[in-house]
Amino acid sequence: MLKNPKLIEGHYECRRFDETLPVFTDILGMEVIERRSETEWVMKHPNTGWSMVLHAAGPDAKDKPLMNHYGWRVSSRGEVDRAQEYLKKVKEEYRLPRVGKPCLLHIAYSFYFGEPGGNSLEIEYYEPEHAKASAVYGPHWQRPYAAEKFAGKGYVCQGLSHGTLECDEGAKESYRRFIAERLGLELVPLPPELPVLYLKDAFNPWYVVVVPQKIRRYLNENSRFTLEIDSLEAVREAHQEFARTGNDAGVTYVGELREENGRSYFFLSDPAKNWWEVTAGKSAVSRNVNSI
Ligand SMILES: [Fe+2]
Repeated sequence: MLKNPKLIEGHYECRRFDETLPVFTDILGMEVIERRSETEWVMKHPNTGWSMVLHAAGPDAKDKPLMNHYGWRVSSRGEVDRAQEYLKKVKEEYRLPRVGKPCLLHIAYSFYFGEPGGNSLEIEYYEPEHAKASAVYGPHWQRPYAAEKFAGKGYVCQGLSHGTLECDEGAKESYRRFIAERLGLELVPLPPELPVLYLKDAFNPWYVVVVPQKIRRYLNENSRFTLEIDSLEAVREAHQEFARTGNDAGVTYVGELREENGRSYFFLSDPAKNWWEVTAGKSAVSRNVNSI
């Protein structure tokens, strides 16, 4: 099992930066903090600690399932409504393929919209009474984000709150065990009527929702989450363990262990065919630092 993993990055596949970046910067308050290559740029919301790595995969990148979206949190229900009104106004300008209607789904009030790179995004609000149950529902930030950065829009994205994965319908319980017993992540206690899992690390409030689905469209490794563990040695040990026992746990792929520039990492595809990167080292730590 991974020891003390930290969820430090979500990876996201789009087609071209020039069509997707304006949606992230202008509508969601994200900033580019690092350009790793021509096709891999790192973005971060200044008010939350994890990053999103955007991969520009070109025109053949497929549309992603709705339940592979990311979500940004606002501070009131009214802001969700105003954000949706604003997006309807700028739909053509940002080439948004769709802007959904706000609704209360489970315990979040939110709406989804599409971006031209083939993904769905969400703007959401949680009522404060849920904050007692888990850090995921409370504010993910120390202080409110600067409203002037969203001047004239009627809402402020306070931070990047969650990513989303699918698992196979009927496999939720076995997937829950894999998440807890192999990846070492926490499962957030949820009301029993909710059909989903919320997973997070032990240190941060951001989280990944897992939604069981009957029909799946599998993702590639450009859509993965990065888990940082304590040392290069720990990554080597984890790689050996997954290579040795991963089959028994239903792991569908374990990539080569790579060590470069003081960082080591490997990819794995889990029993639900979702992708993870396990990493440690200097570069992994510096990934949360503004390098531009
Ligand atoms: Fe969501």
